[in-house]
Amino acid sequence: SPIPAPDLAKCTRGTNLNLRQPLDVDCCPPFSENALDYKLPSATDIRVRPAAHLADNAFIAKYEKATVLMKALPADDPRSFMQQANVHCAYCNLTYDQGGADPSNKLQIHFSWLFFPWHRWYLYFYERILAKLIDDPTFALPYWNWDNPKGMAMPSMFVKENSPLFNPRRNQAHLPLTNPPPYADLRFSKKSSTPQDKVVPSNLTEMYSEMVRSAVNLEDFYGAKYELGAKPDPGAGTVERGSHTAIHAWVGDPNSPAGEDMGNFYSTGRDPLFFCHHANVDRMWSVWRDLRGSKPKEFADPDWLDTSFLFYDENAQLVRVKVRDTVENLKMGYTFQKVEIPWLNKRP
Ligand code: C2O
Repeated sequence: SPIPAPDLAKCTRGTNLNLRQPLDVDCCPPFSENALDYKLPSATDIRVRPAAHLADNAFIAKYEKATVLMKALPADDPRSFMQQANVHCAYCNLTYDQGGADPSNKLQIHFSWLFFPWHRWYLYFYERILAKLIDDPTFALPYWNWDNPKGMAMPSMFVKENSPLFNPRRNQAHLPLTNPPPYADLRFSKKSSTPQDKVVPSNLTEMYSEMVRSAVNLEDFYGAKYELGAKPDPGAGTVERGSHTAIHAWVGDPNSPAGEDMGNFYSTGRDPLFFCHHANVDRMWSVWRDLRGSKPKEFADPDWLDTSFLFYDENAQLVRVKVRDTVENLKMGYTFQKVEIPWLNKRP
């Protein structure tokens, strides 16, 4: 059966999964008793998420202003910057009971079929909080277009030192400070990297593999079934395991204790670049669905569709959401700026 929404009262100190030790921070959310069942508002004006490398100064100014306001919210406001960062920690670092009979089985939404839908909800509320703070219902998060050579460098809006989008805890060798800037390596790991003169073809082949060649069945792309009572980490899908994880590792600071910020589950939400990265992961989900033609685009299994999560919405109201409401981004009121997809014909 589906994993139910977590019981906030049973949130406990989590685990640093990079170090396999108890976390030295408490990332449980503020407690609230009444969770409302969330109904998607009817989508009238569709927000358009821009490609970060194409975003203009007016957009960047809005995004910066919204982030400043988010950082200025009181520390115990569930919409504040740190509380929002901690949402990732709470759902990933084994803080919540998973809901099954064995309370030692903690919830971890990664490496499973919950990866795409959970992150979609996370970005959805984060985006709505920012939009509300600047009173602009059209505001949409930018996406890091790392599957396209034109967008492969770290987007420059995140690296201006006096910007609220700046974060010092990144790999300093990967900042876009040279001409040409270093391109993200979609096969990067702590153990291996691709030389810059080979990175574009390597990335395009990687994307073709993750999105087409190796993503034939639903489980290939989404990840493996994860239901009530199951242990964490049943298996990640192609994008989660591949380009997604590579970007986390490529951005994280190798001189930090354990990959912080982007390279560690508990700290990744502290880097504004996380949300730009995940906006492209989210876009990959929509692109993949579009490539499916008449083949099934999502699971019909109620164990997936009825999995529930809790989030605080833009009004600081605790809401219960389900996977079933995530399958179409347009129904959630947003779409992505169209760009070309250069890996589509990159069959090796
Ligand atoms: Cu929740 Cu990219 O990780």
